[in-house]
Amino acid sequence: SYPKHVTIVDVSPRDGLQNESKTVPTAVKQALIDDLIAAGIKKLEATSFVSPKWVPQMGDNSALLEALAPTRHADVCYSVLVPNMRGFENAINHRPDEIVIFGSASETFSQKNINCSIDESIERFAPVAAAAKAQGIKVRGVISCTVGCPYEGEIDPSKVAYVTKRLIEIGAEQIGIADTIGVGTPLKVQRALRAALEYADIAMLSGHFHDTYGQALSNTLAALQMGISEFDTSVAGLGGCPYAKGATGNVATEDVVYMLHGMGISTGIDLDKLVIAGERISKFLGRPNGSNVARALINK
Ligand code: HMG
Ligand code: MG
Repeated sequence: SYPKHVTIVDVSPRDGLQNESKTVPTAVKQALIDDLIAAGIKKLEATSFVSPKWVPQMGDNSALLEALAPTRHADVCYSVLVPNMRGFENAINHRPDEIVIFGSASETFSQKNINCSIDESIERFAPVAAAAKAQGIKVRGVISCTVGCPYEGEIDPSKVAYVTKRLIEIGAEQIGIADTIGVGTPLKVQRALRAALEYADIAMLSGHFHDTYGQALSNTLAALQMGISEFDTSVAGLGGCPYAKGATGNVATEDVVYMLHGMGISTGIDLDKLVIAGERISKFLGRPNGSNVARALINK
């Protein structure tokens, strides 16, 4: 049966922008976050504390959180990605509400994305998770390439189960199941989710589906049918990963919200205001709006 309420995590300020080659000014990122919150988004990925040599676009991580500080909303969860203790030390000054440690079900993707093996990544994440928890900060784990990998092709669900187990062992309270390159189809995504369920409760799991092959909304529905009630989405469908060539953005937040509301599932989000947020950032980036719902509503 379907959940009655779904939590939307808008990842556009991080996943949506990290792949932009042109530097997006901090003020534009701040305006995007303000717009998302005005639309009712209660959880978002603000930035990542990764190496600026690897992902230059996130190099203003500290400046952005400083800019957000005076108007920080107590009822909004500001998440940041943290790959190692160095990133945690930089992030902690800004008191994020949640940190995201991000591993992979594919060995090759792990090497390409964070320059270490899966097991090494868990060793790096363990002190990060412990330090976050000691400071009362929530810890979420996200697993990339749970269905397919740009380097290895199809990924065996047992790999998803293994990484889920390891992330929970070191303290992850939530696990995101990511289809990084958007190759998944509903039954394959359900298989990956079932593998994670060997170690995680359903309430701990979230879906993170990229839309490269146009399957992300179908995959979202397939996850909803299993009872998953949290999804990472990106306004205007922005995004991609610098280490997953050709992958497009996450499923558009507007499209997911429209589907959920149409199914009688609440999100707390105002779709019209969300469309404004997506239009503003798309115009700034000079890109067509990647949300079907946004385009339909604008042309109505
Ligand atoms: P490394 O080069 O192996 O790190 O990178 P290192 O520990 O050897 O350090 C090398 C240099 O980087 C040192 O500086 C460190 O201080 C510095 P130097 O001495 O040369 O001047 N450094 C840092 N600087 C700032 N912040 C840090 C940091 N760590 C080291 N945190 C590392 C390892 C993990 C840092 C690197 O590979 C990296 O930053 N990778 C990030 C890749 C990334 O952000 N990918 C995109 C996000 S993941 C994603 O999009 C998938 C997701 O959406 C889910 C899905 O769709 O699948 C989440
Ligand atoms: Mg992603």
